[in-house]
Amino acid sequence: MSYGARLITFEGIDGSGKSTQAARLADHLRARGYQVIHTREPGGSPGAEEIRSLVLEGDPDRWSAETELLLFTAARRDHLEKTILPALAVGAVVICDRFVDSTRVYQGITRGDLRPTVDVLHKLMIGREADVTFIMDIPPGTGLSRAKARKGTEERFEDFGEDMQFRMRRGFLELAKEFPDRCHVIDGDRPADTVAEHVARVAEAELR
Ligand code: ADP
Ligand code: TYD
Repeated sequence: MSYGARLITFEGIDGSGKSTQAARLADHLRARGYQVIHTREPGGSPGAEEIRSLVLEGDPDRWSAETELLLFTAARRDHLEKTILPALAVGAVVICDRFVDSTRVYQGITRGDLRPTVDVLHKLMIGREADVTFIMDIPPGTGLSRAKARKGTEERFEDFGEDMQFRMRRGFLELAKEFPDRCHVIDGDRPADTVAEHVARVAEAELR
């Protein structure tokens, strides 16, 4: 891997500000001369984007938790092969909106205690953790009202409601304790500019 190549991920509940902050960090690092690939999951490659619409649209009971885990992992494998690894190989900083920590929380904790299966499948099929992870932390009510304000067809997960968002928030905070070397918990309940300055400071220190 070339010097400077790093995989930076943003994680957290729906509406916590991941997409906003991933875009802000990408702009910030590009302005400082880094080559940056800004991508997202599920998706980030043509094949994975097709899987994204399968998994995010339609009835909340469309897939079992196990099927969903396989679909997210298949999408991630394609994203890794086609987008992430080629970018890291040329020394780019890859900024990814969600990665395996979302699977650990959403499929592993909140939908049927699949966490050991998530980890085995990850080791077998992906085998790569992020170098730096920002866990965007926000009260679920705030996140949900922010997410609901965005209109769209991808509502299968947001439809799960506030109680589920509480469990997911706790799940992300527990992951931050499990992986303290790479995880930074960021208070997302602040103005976007303040959050962006905090994220940029941490990212620059990590890239130095
Ligand atoms: P996520 O990707 O985590 O779901 P987004 O970045 O899409 O979250 O943000 C959800 C909504 O909240 C968007 O409409 C966005 O403009 C808004 N938003 C993002 N960050 C903030 C913030 N710090 N304060 C207020 N609103 C925000
Ligand atoms: P995303 O588009 O990032 O939603 P948001 O911007 O609202 O945070 O992700 C869509 C949904 O997919 C989100 O509710 C979380 C879910 N998801 C999983 O359940 N498992 C996964 O592995 C990933 C990557 C996402």
